[in-house]
Amino acid sequence: MTTIGIIGAGHIGSQVARKAVQLGYDVVIGNSRGPETLTDLVAELGPRARAATAIDAAEAGDFAVVTIPMKNYTDLSVEALAGKIVIDTLNYYWERDGHIEVLDDGEATTSGLVQEHLKGSMVAKGFNHIESADITTTGALTGTDNRRALATASDHQEAVELITELYDEFGFDTVNIGTLAESWRVERDRPAYGPRQNAQELTANLAKAPRVI
Ligand SMILES: NC(=O)c1ccc[n+]([C@@H]2O[C@H](COP(=O)([O-])OP(=O)(O)OC[C@H]3O[C@@H](n4cnc5c(N)ncnc54)[C@H](OP(=O)(O)O)[C@@H]3O)[C@@H](O)[C@H]2O)c1
Repeated sequence: MTTIGIIGAGHIGSQVARKAVQLGYDVVIGNSRGPETLTDLVAELGPRARAATAIDAAEAGDFAVVTIPMKNYTDLSVEALAGKIVIDTLNYYWERDGHIEVLDDGEATTSGLVQEHLKGSMVAKGFNHIESADITTTGALTGTDNRRALATASDHQEAVELITELYDEFGFDTVNIGTLAESWRVERDRPAYGPRQNAQELTANLAKAPRVI
C-alpha cells in the first residue's frame, strides 16, 4: 500500500487527494492551520485518508505532493521530506507571493528553488499547468486518442519515473521537459500553461516558450 503525503489542502491538494483515494492510495494531508480544519475533507475522502500536520503528512508519505503558495516554500520541512520524491505543483504569482527577484529576472525556476531548499529530496514538477477541477475530470485511459498530457521536469530520473506512472494512473500522458533548469518552459503565462494539450501540442508549446515574460 502506498501512502502519499500531501502538504497543502486547498484547490490542488484536495483534488489530488480525491483522485488518489479513488485509485487506492492512502493519503495523509496537512495544511498550515492544523488537522482539525480538515475534518470535512477527510470525511469526504473516506477511510483511506487522514488529516495531519504538514510535518506529519511529509513524514507519513512514501512520496509527497507539495501544493502551497510559492511565498511559503521555505516552510516545507527539509528533514521530513529528506530522501523522498516530492512532486511540486507550485507556481509563482508575484501578486500573491511578493516579488522573488531571481524568478522575475529569469535566473531561477520555481521548482529549482524548491529543490534547492529540499536538499535531500528528489523534486519533480507536476500538476502545475492544470486547473484543479480538471484533475478529476479530464483524465482518460492509457492509449486514448488525443489524451491530455502534463509536463514534468526533474534532476532525478527516479522522480520522473514515479510521476510518469502517477500521471498515467490519473489519466494523463507525460511530457518530460528535462532538468529543473529547463522547467521555466511550463511556468506561468508560457504557451503551455493552462490550455488542454495532448503530448504533441504540449511539446510544441514548450519549445516556443520565452525565457522571460
Ligand atoms: N488552483 C489551481 O488551479 C492551481 C493549478 C496548478 C498549480 N497551482 C499552484 O499550486 C499551489 C497550490 O494552489 P491551490 O490553488 O491549491 O492553493 P490554495 O487553494 O490557496 O491552497 C493552499 C493550501 O496550502 C496550505 N498552506 C499554505 N501555507 C502552508 C504552509 N506553510 N505549510 C503547509 N500548508 C500550507 C493552505 O493551508 P491553510 O489554508 O491552512 O493556510 C492551503 O491548504 C500554488 O502554488 C498554486 O499556484 C494551482
